Amino acid sequence: MNYTKIKEQFYLDPEITFLNFGSFGACPKPIFKEYQRLQLLMEREPVHFITRLGMELWAQSRKALSEYINCNYDDVIYVTNPSYAVNIVAKSFPLKQGDEILATNIEYGACDKTWEYYCEKSGAKYVRQAIQFPLVSKEQFIADFFEGCNERTKLIFISHITSSTGLRLPVEEVCFEARKRGILCFVDGAHAPGQIPIDMLTLNPDFYTGACHKWMMTPKGSSFLYVNKAHQMQCEPLIVSWGYKALFPSASVFQDWHTVQGSRDYTAFLTIPQSIQFMKDNDWISVAARCRALVQSNAVRFLRLLNARPLCPISDDYLVQLYSTQIQTHEPEKFYMHLFNHYKIEVPVMRQDDKVFIRYSVQGFNDQNDLDRLYEALELEIKRGEYLKL
Ligand SMILES: Cc1ncc(COP(=O)(O)O)c(C=O)c1O
Repeated sequence: MNYTKIKEQFYLDPEITFLNFGSFGACPKPIFKEYQRLQLLMEREPVHFITRLGMELWAQSRKALSEYINCNYDDVIYVTNPSYAVNIVAKSFPLKQGDEILATNIEYGACDKTWEYYCEKSGAKYVRQAIQFPLVSKEQFIADFFEGCNERTKLIFISHITSSTGLRLPVEEVCFEARKRGILCFVDGAHAPGQIPIDMLTLNPDFYTGACHKWMMTPKGSSFLYVNKAHQMQCEPLIVSWGYKALFPSASVFQDWHTVQGSRDYTAFLTIPQSIQFMKDNDWISVAARCRALVQSNAVRFLRLLNARPLCPISDDYLVQLYSTQIQTHEPEKFYMHLFNHYKIEVPVMRQDDKVFIRYSVQGFNDQNDLDRLYEALELEIKRGEYLKL
């Protein structure tokens, strides 16, 4: 399918050059219609839907997701978002005074805060190991990252694809090395499902969270947490409800704990089979490959324009459907709003400690014209010099 046909499948405002699929995704019409159909069904008979029919659809949806990410059906639970998943694990993790959690210094800020909060409470330390740029090889990354590891390290927390730098990190090698050292590994795959294939059995992490509402394109508020069987009884529910010591337990206590959370609209979770079908019907593997090619073919041009150093080699090993370039600006929030208000370009300008990155996303509906519009806007902004310096 060509990109204009794909574009027609989305509700996106045609006035906006939308280069920020990464933040919250966007839902294609067939998936959104399924969402609304389920919500209408719920309103026709709320009790029947919430307590019976919806639960059956939940089981079907979880089956489809577990097949999609290749894990055991009972090892994955639905959560609203990756923050929720990180909080489940962090709250229950048996941290003691002096323990350490090893992360990179390019993790998502909200997740850093969660770990810092629970580390402060327990007297543990959250170590943000500095990543050297440009990345040169997976081996070098592993060597540099594990410099931060010692006998006090109890858990590794690392993004599969990072937010501010948009880089795909070698989590396969990280999980492998962590296992060798007897350290648990939690992969933050918020951006991964739908961008890259996930094979949980091969990756074999201890914990893995992914957002379905980003690159899998489901409605907002649908994500998952995979937990290796060995740790499921450690992951207590954030909301303790009827599923705790359930009157009619299912085959999995882990599922019971995390499924029932009081009254809520959980229909977003139920659209996951529709999203998987949508990607199949529209040959999303080819669509994603075209997007990656567009990301990569534009990368050098943006680096030159912004006089920036590359963060990594231009390769599928590190780049998928996001591309970040460091920029010099004192006012990233104002610059972001200026790009939106003046040029109608939705593109994030993000802080990571003392650095600022501009990150474009490429989804099936984007084409070269979108990236040209961004390029031209940045060219003008460099000339104007109010926000952007070289
Ligand atoms: C790498 C990464 N992890 C975690 C999250 C948290 O997602 P949420 O705010 O939806 O919980 C995000 C959000 O964009 C992210 O980019």
